[in-house]
Amino acid sequence: MASNEKLTGHARIETNNFLMIVLITLVVAVGGLVEIVPLFFQKSTTQPIEGLKPYSALQLAGRDVYVAEGCYNCHSQMIRPFQAETLRYGPYSVAGEFVYDRPFQWGSKRTGPDLHRVGGRYSDEWHRIHLINPRDLVPESNMPAYPWLAEKMVNETQLPKRMEVLRTLGAPYTDEEIAASVADVKGKTEMDAVIAYLQVLGTARSEIRAAPAPAAAAPTDVASPVSAAAIKPVEATGSTQ
Ligand code: HEC
Repeated sequence: MASNEKLTGHARIETNNFLMIVLITLVVAVGGLVEIVPLFFQKSTTQPIEGLKPYSALQLAGRDVYVAEGCYNCHSQMIRPFQAETLRYGPYSVAGEFVYDRPFQWGSKRTGPDLHRVGGRYSDEWHRIHLINPRDLVPESNMPAYPWLAEKMVNETQLPKRMEVLRTLGAPYTDEEIAASVADVKGKTEMDAVIAYLQVLGTARSEIRAAPAPAAAAPTDVASPVSAAAIKPVEATGSTQ
């Protein structure tokens, strides 16, 4: 192309850095809005699934322990809709299960297994022993031990305030629940709290509710035992039934 030739149309954009940057930004911004904005209004992403309850005071305190201890660095809470995942962990996660999670703990790193359907899979006692020293139950585990959780008491002072804030964001707490929150966690350790939290994870979906009582026996290898509910085939529709 001769240098004195007048550039027209797309050639003008492609040869002008400034125009190119501005227009790419515009295209990405519009594309992003078109993709992201509807999610804020879609029922499947904003409505809790049937049976989903906001975290109780103790579970909420346990969730804080989970975040504070950085469990999310090794554990995701999102089962993807692939057979390898649903066979191992159970029904894949749907957006409506996370509407009371602020912020969600989906995570992107799996040094350990996904925990979204760990609720009800083991007994409380299993978790207690496992958190104090994972190697007692899973000899080859490289999960850190968290023995201090059994000694530290739950800090309840901020719970009522936090539940109030969550209520303004949509969690349907009653005044009574908020008022009772301090008493609910009285005398509980951080270990009790994090176990209460783990035990409720992923249990709102009805397949999980119908699961048999978890076996108290400890697994001897890293691969988790798959509960009867977990191997039930999942419908491809994403329905919550
Ligand atoms: C350094 C990475 C790492 C961190 C941090 C970590 N874990 Fe783990 N976790 C693992 C690994 C690896 C396994 C699999 C072996 C085992 O069961 O110990 C595991 C297993 C588990 C299991 C059993 C899951 C199953 O389906 O069998 C639970 C429950 C669990 N972790 C909870 C926690 C909690 C709660 C925390 C935070 C207090 C935490 N983990 C922090 C690596 C980690």
